[in-house]
Amino acid sequence: MIAKRSLNWFSRLRAKTIGMVSMAIAVCFLAVSCAGGSGGGSTPVAAAGIAPDVVADYIHTTLAADRTAYTKHVINRLKKLEGKDKPDGVLDVEATESWQQTDGIPLPAQMFRLGSEIASEGSPFTYSLISEWNINDNQGVKTEFEKTAVEAINSTGEPYKEYQEVGGKKYFSALYPDKAVAEACVTCHNTHPVHLERYPDKVFEMGDVMGGVMINIPLD
Ligand code: HEC
Repeated sequence: MIAKRSLNWFSRLRAKTIGMVSMAIAVCFLAVSCAGGSGGGSTPVAAAGIAPDVVADYIHTTLAADRTAYTKHVINRLKKLEGKDKPDGVLDVEATESWQQTDGIPLPAQMFRLGSEIASEGSPFTYSLISEWNINDNQGVKTEFEKTAVEAINSTGEPYKEYQEVGGKKYFSALYPDKAVAEACVTCHNTHPVHLERYPDKVFEMGDVMGGVMINIPLD
């Protein structure tokens, strides 16, 4: 009982401390934004609250964490991945691109897209996977902004962040590199029929930037 009470007391103190630290960080970011600290006098900034590049980082962390958790804790427990046997699988189900036709479950990139479609319903905030070596037609590089961003992440391996205007509306957009972190990324993409047909000379290697996660935050 005593132990429980002191644990509760500790939890409350910890929650309070975290709350205060978060508020202090938010105030600091606001101060930096208002002072034009991110460089460029006429750069638009969020009217109040956390600077948009920090918001983009938070969103990206969440998206990346969910994708990794799905890969690690769901996909890795299956018996099959795209028709190939997985010896250490514990669940008798297959992850496959044609999951709807075969009673399988979606690949991580498809799971990501299904989530992004739901998130964008009735909201101007969007996120998506894009690549200049895209398998899915909807995930190609379309706008000038995307072209610049993709070139930047391909050459630096670092996120590209910039303001842009689309249809008279201001956005803060960030493209985070999506790298080949597992052998499966490389083998599956390099041997995919669409990849082989479209990009026969592009052979991904471990650590390569394969595309990016684009996040568009409306500023109005
Ligand atoms: C078993 C096959 C498979 C594996 C493993 C896989 N992918 Fe994919 N990936 C696909 C398919 C199929 C698509 C297109 C899916 C869709 O319709 O959205 C895709 C989509 C993508 C896209 C969006 C551009 C495009 O091609 O349409 C990126 C970027 C990407 N994958 C990167 C990765 C990375 C990084 C990994 C490893 C962490 C990985 N993939 C693992 C099959 C795979």
